[in-house]
Amino acid sequence: MRGIVLAGGNGTRLLPLTLVGSKHLAPVYDKPMVYYPLSVLMLAGINEVLIITRPAEIGLFRRLFGSGSRLGMRIDYAAQEEPRGIADAFRVGADHIRGEDCALVLGDNLFHGAELPAVLRRTTQGLRGCVLFGQQVADPQRFGVAEVDARGGLLSVEEKPEHPRSSLAIPGLYFFDGAVTDIAQGLRPSARGELEITDVLRAYLTEGRADLVRLGSDVTWLDAGTHESLLDAGLFVRDVQRHQGTRLGCVEEVALHMGFISADVCYELGAAMGDSSYGRYVMASARAYLQSRAPATFPEE
Ligand code: G1P
Repeated sequence: MRGIVLAGGNGTRLLPLTLVGSKHLAPVYDKPMVYYPLSVLMLAGINEVLIITRPAEIGLFRRLFGSGSRLGMRIDYAAQEEPRGIADAFRVGADHIRGEDCALVLGDNLFHGAELPAVLRRTTQGLRGCVLFGQQVADPQRFGVAEVDARGGLLSVEEKPEHPRSSLAIPGLYFFDGAVTDIAQGLRPSARGELEITDVLRAYLTEGRADLVRLGSDVTWLDAGTHESLLDAGLFVRDVQRHQGTRLGCVEEVALHMGFISADVCYELGAAMGDSSYGRYVMASARAYLQSRAPATFPEE
């Protein structure tokens, strides 16, 4: 399965922070924002990822991740000349997807929760058509909104409706089979001039090939696209990390646990940042991983 991180757009809601920089490289507490969505794709077992950015920022993302080989991945980059909407990712990324199943994550979406790896595993294993997620929110009109029947079957999807039919928002993480590139090619811009992700979802729904998976309260989903939500996301990350002693969106640790890199490589990556608490955490993760896998030793008789 291929992955796409959509990190384009002008980030107008974050001006002036985004005047000369990418929203997706803005710090969310201790790491660039893009670490969080990238780590979600990695948790889904995806090690071939395309990052789509504004043309001027490709070089910055490349400096951050290079070819991806450091993380045992292949990371490619593509430019989105203008922000033409989320579904444009499947046009820009058509050569990367090449008819395979793919996952798209928005570069400003964060997910966290002990259940998340299992949810992602189930989703990638049984993928038929497309899978979108739904989570109850207080302000659904800010998001794509899903309507479901009593058994959880998907009835409708709408983009930022004035009068939402439910309070089930659709987070920026979607799984599709290879048909998605053809569907995206056939889309027309919406009234606001964008290729809407909800139109892609609706195309699958019309064919009876869209499943909605509800994210319960054990999975936290945040988007960090406004000043308020960016700060909220940073505080959330700080609080969870402080209380649990783990790091969210730590791509080196996820690469290790997904088997993309060895503990030695992980340790080296941490050591290269050893002056920071982040680097020391990565080194400690590598050590803990090795210890957890060491063969049990028995006292000699
Ligand atoms: C986008 C999508 C929307 C989705 C949201 C999740 O909106 O269009 O369907 O619910 O991301 O973050 P945006 O926030 O980019 O306007």
